[in-house]
Amino acid sequence: MRLNNVRYLIGELEKKRDLPDSELAELIAETGEEEQEFLFERARAVREREYGTDVYVRGLIEFSNICRNDCYYCGIRKSNEKAERYRLTPEEILACAREGYGLGFRTFVLQSGEDAWFTGERMEGIIRSIREEFPDCAVTLSVGERTKEDYLRWHKAGADRYLLRHETADGEHYRRLHPAVMSLAERKECLYMLREIGYQVGAGFMVGSPGQTVDNLVADLRFLQDLRPHMIGIGPFLSHRDTPFAGEADGSLSRTLTMLGILRLMFPEVLLPATTALGTIAADGRERGLMAGANVLMPNLSPVRIREKYDLYDNKICTGEESAQCKNCLALRVESTGYHIVTARGDSRVK
Ligand code: 5AD
Ligand code: FES
Repeated sequence: MRLNNVRYLIGELEKKRDLPDSELAELIAETGEEEQEFLFERARAVREREYGTDVYVRGLIEFSNICRNDCYYCGIRKSNEKAERYRLTPEEILACAREGYGLGFRTFVLQSGEDAWFTGERMEGIIRSIREEFPDCAVTLSVGERTKEDYLRWHKAGADRYLLRHETADGEHYRRLHPAVMSLAERKECLYMLREIGYQVGAGFMVGSPGQTVDNLVADLRFLQDLRPHMIGIGPFLSHRDTPFAGEADGSLSRTLTMLGILRLMFPEVLLPATTALGTIAADGRERGLMAGANVLMPNLSPVRIREKYDLYDNKICTGEESAQCKNCLALRVESTGYHIVTARGDSRVK
């Protein structure tokens, strides 16, 4: 009976792109291995209808691990005195983009901790120089909560996209993951602001973060329905040895894949990355993500000498590989799924 009901719910979700709370909760909690096969088959059908067999790649440049925030889950939180801090210069950032361009990347994601050295003005300069040298590329920012003024200024300078995960859409759970000075309301405000300014916006959350319930995940889906982001980034929570969550259990691979399948059925046009965290929890995690509805990969373009230092969670993959090696490795992995990497900018179909 249960098997059939879950299958039925998957069919309904594909048709209506929505279900009542209780049924979403049932899907999240009760989808087992057999039902996953069906869920992923439907998710791939939707993904192929919307995006064909294309996989978009974004070159990730982790340009500073200096952060004013103290999120309990994150290895580069400011209280982690063991973290070796670094900050790339604007010229070094540009050099990463240059290398990436040569490898075929047409989107650069500039990601960092919340590092005040990168003022509105300095970031603007970096965005302008990338746009000037590579006018056919998209620039994505992922630098946290900033003022509206900064967001506007960077958008004018040519930044197209902004990634800012909401992490959890439940206020109480948000407080369990973050110090009291951070608030879910502010995080949401930033996301709505970014969307209004005209960025293509990426939100997202961790699966299996400490204290997360199935109802929290339903709340994440509801928030995403309201925000209507262009991209949704999710990955399993992975504990980091030098954080308050050191002893906490990692999130589950299986539940992360289930969430990817559900997201693809609820948000057919969204961009869905198979994330580095997914590739860390299992050697074939990213491939399995692609087989569950994901259609984006975000390999690292940072200089190898600093890669280990952008240490959000334990055992992060790709810290020893040159950018070209990751590119080749990914191409093989993607081919094994029957999908194909394309160099296009890969804009979201969400309007
Ligand atoms: N495990 C998994 N994901 C993490 N992130 C940060 N710390 C961890 C962790 N310990 C994710 C957050 C953040 C993104 C850049 O990385 O969701 O938004
Ligand atoms: Fe980096 Fe495979 S993607 S080594």
